[in-house]
Amino acid sequence: KLIPVILSGGAGTRLWPASRQGYPKPFMRLGDGQSLLQRTLQRALKVANADEVMTVTGADYYFLTRDEYQREAAAASIGQRFLLEPAGRNTAPAIVLAALDIAQRHGAEAQLLVLPADHLVADLDSFAADVAVACELAAAGHLVTFGIRPTHPETGFGYIEAGAAVGNAGGREIKAFVEKPDRVTAEQYLASGHYFWNAGMFCFAAGALIEAAAKVCPNVLGAAQAVMEAADLQAEPLKFERERFIAQPDISIDYAVMEKAAKRAVVPARFDWSDIGSWKAVSELGEPDPQGNRVRGQSILVESVNCYVDAGDRVVAAVGVQDLVIVDSGDAVLVADREQAQAVRAVVDHLKRHK
Ligand code: GDD
Ligand code: MG
Repeated sequence: KLIPVILSGGAGTRLWPASRQGYPKPFMRLGDGQSLLQRTLQRALKVANADEVMTVTGADYYFLTRDEYQREAAAASIGQRFLLEPAGRNTAPAIVLAALDIAQRHGAEAQLLVLPADHLVADLDSFAADVAVACELAAAGHLVTFGIRPTHPETGFGYIEAGAAVGNAGGREIKAFVEKPDRVTAEQYLASGHYFWNAGMFCFAAGALIEAAAKVCPNVLGAAQAVMEAADLQAEPLKFERERFIAQPDISIDYAVMEKAAKRAVVPARFDWSDIGSWKAVSELGEPDPQGNRVRGQSILVESVNCYVDAGDRVVAAVGVQDLVIVDSGDAVLVADREQAQAVRAVVDHLKRHK
């Protein structure tokens, strides 16, 4: 049994002002009107039935999430499992709680397919084929990741050093997993040709993940078990007591488990993948006009090239500029250099400090 586990949390600070506390990144709409979350549900429905999908998200986003799911006919009015967090404690607690719930309801052999809600995949057939490969490796006890061929020394991703083949469908052992290396290290990994980016999606048996956590991060597992013990597991949606929940360590699955666990494998992805982590990624979606500009809403670009403009409800005009991201969200305007779009999170930090 395969349970897609959709992870939707975090405020997505690098996509300010379109993504903010009350309206985080997964709900951001793309040019085609679909949200990242809706696209993630489509991915899940490609490999499982709607009533098998589990979602781990903040309690505040429960109704917003359900509304989003109603847009997919296949998922409308079907009972799904929701785990609602009183506060974000990062992906290790989120995934370990999901694994504990799934092991309890479906047995230790049941598999999780962890799907972050901030990615874009267009080729769903290749995605499903790669998931099938991952499931086989997960059935043999591996913790499985999906590897993306790196194109630049990105420091915001995990890097996977692939080793010998496992199985006969293209899977490889993981020799090393390094989360968010520094620039120099990332450049070395890229140059070596032996590394993949970690796509951030995972596949493993619930029992295998719990066993690995018991070995490499017993504090995370113990805290999650305490959270589950205090919860009413029959309740739907499943809610957690705040005190115990925030007592869990704030750590990602990459640092807590994937860097350290013993039996790991990577499936080199045949599907296209992009992480919508910053405006640079958003600004590269869809076809540009002949000047390299991509425009949403009403905007007038004169003698300007390679810009991304999201005009919202107002008219935005730009003259003689290049490589800019301009986003008008009604109550805030962002003007940023496309190549420095990662630094937008500093704006959010500033706003938090001066509020
Ligand atoms: N439910 C829940 N609760 N979801 C969370 C939480 C939380 O506390 N924290 C993060 N998430 C969700 C985010 O919404 C996102 O969909 C996903 O988990 C990953 O979290 P990010 O914070 O976006 O991680 P990252 O992008 O820095 O790094 C991860 O993804 C990269 C690829 O996109 C790592 O797995 C990297 O190794 C990987 O390369
Ligand atoms: Mg991310």
